[in-house]
Amino acid sequence: MITLGIETSCDETSCAILENGDKILSNIVSSSLEKHQPFGGIVPEIASRHALENINIVFQEALKKAGVSIYDIDLVSVTYGPGLIGSLLVGISFAKALAYNRKVKLIGVNHLEAHLEANLIGQPLQENSYLGLIVSGGHTILVLYRDGKFKKLGGTVDDAVGEAYDKVAKLIGLGYPGGPIIDKLAANGNQKKFRFTKPKLDSELDFSFSGIKTAVLHLVEDLGNEIHSDAGNLAASFQYAVVGWLAEGVRRACLQTRIKQVLVGGGVSANSLLRSKLKELAAEMELTLYIPPMALTNDNAAMIAKSGYEKHQNGVKSGFDLSAMPNLRIGGL
Ligand code: KG4
Ligand code: ZN
Repeated sequence: MITLGIETSCDETSCAILENGDKILSNIVSSSLEKHQPFGGIVPEIASRHALENINIVFQEALKKAGVSIYDIDLVSVTYGPGLIGSLLVGISFAKALAYNRKVKLIGVNHLEAHLEANLIGQPLQENSYLGLIVSGGHTILVLYRDGKFKKLGGTVDDAVGEAYDKVAKLIGLGYPGGPIIDKLAANGNQKKFRFTKPKLDSELDFSFSGIKTAVLHLVEDLGNEIHSDAGNLAASFQYAVVGWLAEGVRRACLQTRIKQVLVGGGVSANSLLRSKLKELAAEMELTLYIPPMALTNDNAAMIAKSGYEKHQNGVKSGFDLSAMPNLRIGGL
């Protein structure tokens, strides 16, 4: 069975061809990142225009790379939320037109759930329930997946962790997106040079990242020109703090739920320290840990195809009234 995945929820335009839910034949991603860089963040209008101009090119390339034709597609799976409305509508309209023309099934997919399901391509779950950690530019969520349903356990009360990386990078005078730059810079810095305290929150499964951003701002002001020599130490200390909080959240959630399987997803799952900290935690607590391969950490259509394929296996189908849901939550709640 051939599934076409389409992802246009933010700044990436991506099409993927997945065979039988476990083999990626192609996964083409066209990013509009460079066009947003002068603005230091995503400009929705630029993102949707990029999607519109590139969707057909990316689709044709995905077919070509996979060695399949438009007539081989059995299922069309597309992100319908959460994300930027203009960008989402480009993917949804393209998916609908194609599914209608080819008379094949259409499935709308939740981008957040797909980030977790990216882990399961060719690597099935060992148990039916798992703890999910979604860490991206727009979300930081801890969820429990049990009996086919998602339940939110905790999450950020303010900024997402990726957003904190991006803002802190801006404060230190680095480029956009800040996550990969800070990650690289942190490798040669002293993690213990600056200490950041974890904000006190009502729930031990919640996170807050806006305070640390303000703390970094004050440090940058105090350091003045010295920032140049301390940028690596600041990046390392910031990363050490936020990754520690995330890993601690996972540890507590596993203890509370007694779940032994953890799936991680989203752009920040590319972070080197997060990957190593979670591996250490998994060894210590005897957890089975799923972290996506680097190519599947960022937004991509292979994960959308996988999520749609699984939904199809469970008898789910969307109608042609499928529309964009910019604020869609995990589990559809
Ligand atoms: O999932 P994603 O591609 O897009 C959203 O759905 O938001 O995540 C993008 C976010 C950005 O904030 C970026 O700075 C962050 O992921 N990111 C990282 C790393 N690579 C990307 N954050 C920390 N370390 C990284 N290596
Ligand atoms: Zn994402």
